[in-house]
Amino acid sequence: MSFSQRTHTCGELREGNAGATVTLNGWVHVVRSFGSVYFIDIRDRHGITQAVVGAESAESIRSLAKELRSEFVISVSGIVRLRENPNPKIPTGLIEIDATAIEIINRAELPPFEIHEHEESSQASEELRLKYRFLDLRRRSLQQNFITRNTLYQLTHSFFAEHGFIEVETPILMKSTPEGARDFLVPSRINKGKFYALPQSPQLYKQILMVSGFDKYMQIVKCFRDEDLRADRQPEFTQIDVEMSFVEQGTVIDLVEEFTTRVWKELKQVDVATPFKRLSWHEAMTKYGSDKPDLRYGLELTTVTDTVRSCGFSVFTDAAAKKHGTVACLNAKGCAGFSRKQIDELTDHAKKYGAKGVAWMKFSEGVTTSPIAKFLTESEIESIRTAANAEDGDLLLFAADEFERCYTILGALRIEVAKRSGILDTVKNEFAFLWVTEFPLMEYSEEEQRYIARHHPFTAPMNEDVHLLETDPTQARAKAHDLVCNGYEIAGGSIRIHNSEIQQRMFDLLGFSKEDAQSKFGFLLDALKFGAPPHGGIALGFDRWVMLLCGTDNIRDVIAFPKTTSGLSLMDNSPSAVDTKQLGELGISLKE
Ligand code: AMO
Ligand code: AMP
Repeated sequence: MSFSQRTHTCGELREGNAGATVTLNGWVHVVRSFGSVYFIDIRDRHGITQAVVGAESAESIRSLAKELRSEFVISVSGIVRLRENPNPKIPTGLIEIDATAIEIINRAELPPFEIHEHEESSQASEELRLKYRFLDLRRRSLQQNFITRNTLYQLTHSFFAEHGFIEVETPILMKSTPEGARDFLVPSRINKGKFYALPQSPQLYKQILMVSGFDKYMQIVKCFRDEDLRADRQPEFTQIDVEMSFVEQGTVIDLVEEFTTRVWKELKQVDVATPFKRLSWHEAMTKYGSDKPDLRYGLELTTVTDTVRSCGFSVFTDAAAKKHGTVACLNAKGCAGFSRKQIDELTDHAKKYGAKGVAWMKFSEGVTTSPIAKFLTESEIESIRTAANAEDGDLLLFAADEFERCYTILGALRIEVAKRSGILDTVKNEFAFLWVTEFPLMEYSEEEQRYIARHHPFTAPMNEDVHLLETDPTQARAKAHDLVCNGYEIAGGSIRIHNSEIQQRMFDLLGFSKEDAQSKFGFLLDALKFGAPPHGGIALGFDRWVMLLCGTDNIRDVIAFPKTTSGLSLMDNSPSAVDTKQLGELGISLKE
C-alpha cells in the first residue's frame, strides 16, 4: 500500500519553514483532544513535531484523528505555522503543522508501557522492557546511546586507519583454549564429538598476524565469555582489538592516550589531559584497594601493619604475624557521624568481600571512640591517626587479612563510603583516567592447586623479573597495562612473549605438560619458532567506552539486544531447547 512519503523528519522543522506544505511520517507519541481540537505529537528518531486538527477541519480528517492511538504509524500532511503557545523545550517547539491530511499507515496494539523518558517508563520492569525491546528501543535516550555508539565506530575506524592499522577479521569458530573465562562451545556436525569454541578474544590470532608480518592490526570484534554477569559485563561484548609489532609498552600507551583524547574531544567536547596518571598494581591496591580504582575522589587507604604488630588486639597481631598478612584502614573523611547501624551495614557489605569483621575508630569533637581503643596505647592510636591523616570528624575503618583480601575489602568499602557520603554525586560529570601497570604475572589458585596467569599465558614478564619465574613466580611482574576510567577497566593488554623458550617456561609454570601445551597452543608455539617479531597490544572494551560516554552504568543501555544477568535474551527467548533430531545430527544426547 502506498502512502504519502515524508518531506521532512520529525525533528527538522523550524520557524523558517512557516508557510511550507510538508509531510511527516512517524509514530503517534501522544494525542490530546481539547474540545474539538486534536493535538497530535508525531515522533521519529529525529524528534517530535506537533500537528493540529482544528475544529474547522474536514470531518474525514477529524474522524481519523479521533481513531489515533499511541504508537500508530501515520503520515501527516499540512502547512507549517507558528505556534500560539510555543514550547521552548523542544527544537521544533516554535511551530506546528496545520494538518490537511492524515493517513493511518499501520495500527499498533496498546503498548505494555509508554515510550516516554519519564517516570512512566521507568515504572515498567527491566524484564518487561527487555521482552519488548523493539518498543523500548524507540525511547529517545536509548536511541541517543546508539547514535553515540555509531559515532565511536566511525571514529575508531578513521583513527586507526590514519595511524596505519589494517582491520583483519579473525574466526568466530575457533579452537577451545584454556585462558581466562569459560568458553562457549559449538558442536561440530561433520566432525562428531568435536567442538569449536567461540573466541573469548582474538588474542592468539592477532599474535599470529604479527608473526605473519601485519605489523599494525585492529579489529572491532565480538568476544564471548561464559562468566558470571554484572552491570558492566555481558556474555558477548565488543572490543577494539589492537596489536602492533616492534613496540614497547610506551608505544601502546601513547597510542591509546591519543585515541582517548580524540574520542572525548569529539564526543564529549572535553579536553582530557595526557599523559594519564600511572600506578603500579601494588600502589593501586595499597592506596585504593582495587586494580581499577575510581580516582575521581580521594578516600585513600593507609597500611598500619607495623604500627599494630605488637598491640593488644589479637585480630591485628595475628594477621600481622602471618606471611602476607596486612592490617590497613580507610579514612572515611567526614563520616564520624555514621551511626552504629550504618557501620553495621558497611560491615555486612565488607563481608561480601570476605571480611571477618570491620574494626572502626571515630574522631569527633576531640574524643576518640572505638571498640578496639582499649587494646591500643595512646601512642599507637596517635600513630594510626597521623598515618591516616585523620582529622576531627573522620571515621577509620580497619581490615586485617591476607594482603590482597585486606585491600580488596577496604577498596569495596571505599566505593560504598563514596556513595553513602554523597561524594560520588559531586564528581558525576568528571572523568579520571589511569593506567595500572606492573601486574603480578601469575597467582596461585588454591582451587586448581596451580599457578594461573593473571592476564593470559602469553603476557611477557618484566625483564628484571624473568629470574623470579622459577624461584618466586607470584612476585614476578608482567608487562601488562590496564586503562581505567571512573572505576571501570576499559582496556587491557600487554607486551607478549615472542620467544618460544620463555613461552614454554610459562606453560611449564602454569602446569601444562609438554603434550598439553602442544595440543592446546601448539600452533602459537610453532609460530613463535618461525621468526616472531617483538609485539604487544591492547583491547578496549567498546561497550564500556560507550557506557561512560553516555553516562550510564548499565551495559544493557548500550547494547541493542542484551542478555539479562542470568544470560537470557527475553525478547527471543534464547537459550532455548532444540529438538532431538538436531541433537542427534550432532551426536549429542542430553542427560535427564
Ligand atoms: P581483557 O580480557 O582485559 O583483554 O578484555 C579487554 C577489555 O574488554 C572489556 N571486557 C568486557 N566488557 C564487557 N563484558 C565483558 N564480559 C567483558 N570482558 C572484558 C574490558 C576489558 O578491559 N586479549 C586481551 C587483550 C590483550 O591482551 O590485548 C583481552 O581480551 O573493558
Ligand atoms: P571481636 O574481637 O571478634 O569481637 O572483634 C572486635 C572488633 O574487630 C569488631 O568490631 C570486629 O568487627 C572487628 N574485627 C574482627 N575481625 C576483623 C578483621 N579481620 N579485620 C578488621 N576488623 C575485625
